[in-house]
Amino acid sequence: MKPRHFLTLLDLDSGELQALIDRARELKALQKNGVAHRTRPGKVMAMVFEKSSTRTRVSFETGMIQLGGQALFLSPRDTQLGRGEPIEDSARVLSRMVDIIMIRTFEHEKIERFAEFSDVPVINALTDMYHPCQLLADIMTWQEHRDDIRGKKAAWIGDGNNMCHSWINAARRFDFHLAIATPEGFDPDPNVLAAAGDRVALFRQPADAAADADLVVTDVWTSMGQEDEQKRRERAFAGYIVDDDLMACANEDALFMHCLPAHRGEEVSASVIDGPHSVVWDEAENRLHAQKALIELLLA
Ligand code: CP
Ligand code: NVA
Repeated sequence: MKPRHFLTLLDLDSGELQALIDRARELKALQKNGVAHRTRPGKVMAMVFEKSSTRTRVSFETGMIQLGGQALFLSPRDTQLGRGEPIEDSARVLSRMVDIIMIRTFEHEKIERFAEFSDVPVINALTDMYHPCQLLADIMTWQEHRDDIRGKKAAWIGDGNNMCHSWINAARRFDFHLAIATPEGFDPDPNVLAAAGDRVALFRQPADAAADADLVVTDVWTSMGQEDEQKRRERAFAGYIVDDDLMACANEDALFMHCLPAHRGEEVSASVIDGPHSVVWDEAENRLHAQKALIELLLA
């Protein structure tokens, strides 16, 4: 039987995603109350990181330990993956040894190819195209603070990047409106956008997207792998900062989210990320709980 993978949010239906978040909240309560929950004893996760990470690495590694299993950190620097061993071969070999595999890489096609040849579930821990695990934590965080997100309005300010694409998929699965403001030349992928229909609208002015929003979200202007475009991006994104003036366009009780790491003074002001609207530390913590629920589901 083919294993179940989690490469984008669309790999789970709306009911499964909600059940996962409900379970994540249960697991969070168990963890907070010191109640052991080793529901996947002896299971081993391989974690393949071709890009840097703090949150993703620590949350998956800690999550596996709390579920009674273990995680192996694999870097291309010291595995054959970095020396050109074919993806297909690496997938077949790793999946004969471990129970589940998490990958952070560049091209999304690479993780799709890996998953095709893997006998065990593969989790997307960020590609250039999507970051679905972050959205599990983000929607969980919304629900903890504000309950149902259906029919609400979120505003995405900045780059039409991997996080933006995952927010578009989240708007489809959780049925909310998403207003996106990007500078010209940095729009999200047209196919991802088109598939979301009229739930998602594109703007040029941040204030137009943020108007009456219940939630304002941003991310770095220069993602991992785009470092040589940094100067050009700084120029293109000038004016796309989420600051107090922009938050004043949103609803009074709007939340602010950022997947982190953040650059204060670039995409977000210190007053916003460290201010009363911000729930970024909950988002970061919830990576742990949401991914534990994901691991349970894929290793059911
Ligand atoms: N948000 C996120 O994925 O952070 P890391 O790059 O630290 O894993
Ligand atoms: N868009 C960012 C997200 C980091 C978690 C990047 O890809 O670098």
